Amino acid sequence: MKVLVSAASRHGSTAELAAVVADVLRSRGHDAIAVPPADVTSLAGYDAVVLGSGVYYGRWLDPAHKFVDRFAADLAGKQVFMFSSGPVGGTTAIPDAIPTDVAGLMERVGAFHHVIFDGKLDPNSLGLRERMAVKVVGVPQGDFRDWYSVIKWAGEVADELGPWVPRTPQPSGRRYSV
Ligand SMILES: Cc1cc2nc3c(=O)[nH]c(=O)nc-3n(C[C@H](O)[C@H](O)[C@H](O)COP(=O)(O)O)c2cc1C
Repeated sequence: MKVLVSAASRHGSTAELAAVVADVLRSRGHDAIAVPPADVTSLAGYDAVVLGSGVYYGRWLDPAHKFVDRFAADLAGKQVFMFSSGPVGGTTAIPDAIPTDVAGLMERVGAFHHVIFDGKLDPNSLGLRERMAVKVVGVPQGDFRDWYSVIKWAGEVADELGPWVPRTPQPSGRRYSV
């Protein structure tokens, strides 16, 4: 299957997750490529899409929303898998781990699968406003990405890839950790 993996990422860590997902899909025999949402001009030729985003203030980033706006009609006929990258270190500082907008995005594109991965927070990469925001909320700093979980989930996606059939959408997400 030809698969597009596209993830909105402000500071790069979610883009790295997308690259690994594409690597795993390729290692499982799929023709997968990772492209940032803003650089995607067409979905022609793709059988399936893995769409992700870093989570900021409880929501997906703008480029991921714009991707859905631009391609909602095309996505409705493809298998769509979604992932969020946000919670850092199992913190309770950001209690609402499921982004508030994901259920709506899933519904628009007929996605039936969404998982949440732990993310990375490097204070040195943040601007002044973001640094103040994470200080106020008390978000822990560090790289909490669990590559084993990401690789395992990508393997499950590889197994699920197949001809598109209508499905009942699943609840909007679960934290994916093995
Ligand atoms: C200003 C700011 C706000 C954030 N808000 C949330 C949030 O609401 N929920 C969450 O789970 N993670 C939140 N995070 C953590 C990020 O989602 C996490 O660091 C993610 O891995 C960043 O992805 P990126 O490097 O691709 O931009 C926030 C981080 C920053 C810097």
